[in-house]
Amino acid sequence: MHPFVAQVPIPPPKKKMALTLSRKLLSRVPVRAFSAGQPVAGSAGGLPMQVYNEKGKHRVLVTKPLPGDRYLDILTGSDCRVEVCAMNAPDATILSNERIMALIGDKCDGVIGQLTENWNDELFAALKKAGGRAFSNYAVGYNNVDVAAATKHGIPVGNTPGVLTETTAEIAATLTLSAARRIVEADTFMRTGQYLGWLPTLFVGQLLQGGTVGIVGAGRIGQAYARRMIEGHKMSVVYYDLQPQPAFEKFVSDYSAFLVARGEAPVSCTRAASVDELLPQCDVVSLHTVYNASTKHLIDATRLKLMKPASVLVNTARGPVVHEAALVAHLKANPTFFAGLDVFEDEPAMAPGLAQCANTVILPHIASASLFTRSGMATLAAANVAARLRGDGVWDTPDNAVPFLEGAPGAVPRKSPSIVNAKELGIA
Ligand code: DGY
Repeated sequence: MHPFVAQVPIPPPKKKMALTLSRKLLSRVPVRAFSAGQPVAGSAGGLPMQVYNEKGKHRVLVTKPLPGDRYLDILTGSDCRVEVCAMNAPDATILSNERIMALIGDKCDGVIGQLTENWNDELFAALKKAGGRAFSNYAVGYNNVDVAAATKHGIPVGNTPGVLTETTAEIAATLTLSAARRIVEADTFMRTGQYLGWLPTLFVGQLLQGGTVGIVGAGRIGQAYARRMIEGHKMSVVYYDLQPQPAFEKFVSDYSAFLVARGEAPVSCTRAASVDELLPQCDVVSLHTVYNASTKHLIDATRLKLMKPASVLVNTARGPVVHEAALVAHLKANPTFFAGLDVFEDEPAMAPGLAQCANTVILPHIASASLFTRSGMATLAAANVAARLRGDGVWDTPDNAVPFLEGAPGAVPRKSPSIVNAKELGIA
């Protein structure tokens, strides 16, 4: 047991926050308890499809193959004919709206769509016309979905919260360490045969231990990331969030008391009044906000200059939260400034010059890419759609995804785990 847990009494986590990656749960997700059967080859809108449960009553379109089988069990077990768009050709990695409309066709009861797709009024109108009654994004974020348009057409919009938290926090921590300690540069150096011997000046980076980490957006993922930096590297935390986070602040003060009792230096937690107040205090700043009009270019040239010249910026939220061209200029002008990026302003493109900046670590939007999370997201998206098509209700604690992920598919609650416009549609 972690010594902190053993010595400082803290209340057990609320069930809705208790999505710990238990071995029991991890071992279950990839297991095939598959009842959906083998797919048959089909086609829709001129694209190849894999069709499960051909004779199912409700046609559900899944615009990309998803990890795991449980999602198929949930849908086929709810009398759905599931059509998975099998096309993974480079020109179909991101489906255009024209292609998605062709896939929807004349009859489509529900869709599981991707964050790379632009689910706007045009698509929801086409879905409605085809008899659509349910849509779920295969993501927790839904800035690619015009929820007001979906609501106008009476279509519930699902998302997949709760299952990404720890996985995404792990990648944010990975980016932080990799950027601060110049891991990618050093790895390339080795692979290209440049290592001629140990040198005192070789890849000197930044020490995180005992520094200050800034969290912009202290929700589930921000706090999970912060805990890694506080407990692992004994960093103090400054957070900016529209809401105060008293439970998180208490966690940090309890942990600090534990450290002091052991004769170690304390850590602290402060809520900043503004992003501008947070930035100059921090050795690392990690972004965990939603993306909307108010967070577009939240980190721009002016704010980058507020950060310490030798510090680290991490973005696992959404690309446009950072003004990427300004970041490139800042990285070029400040070789001791590092960035760790999983998301980009105009994905899949990167701003000109970013790839040439050695002081960055850049990943192809894989923060949620653990098998546990990606198959869990599929399960939640399928449960969102299946429950709507059956006419069942909406789960009222969307952060607690565990009941949907554990047990036999038949034991999954007969509710949609998370429908973001449930209230507006009167189905909450
Ligand atoms: C999400 O779910 O919003 C993530 O960006 C996917 O990794």
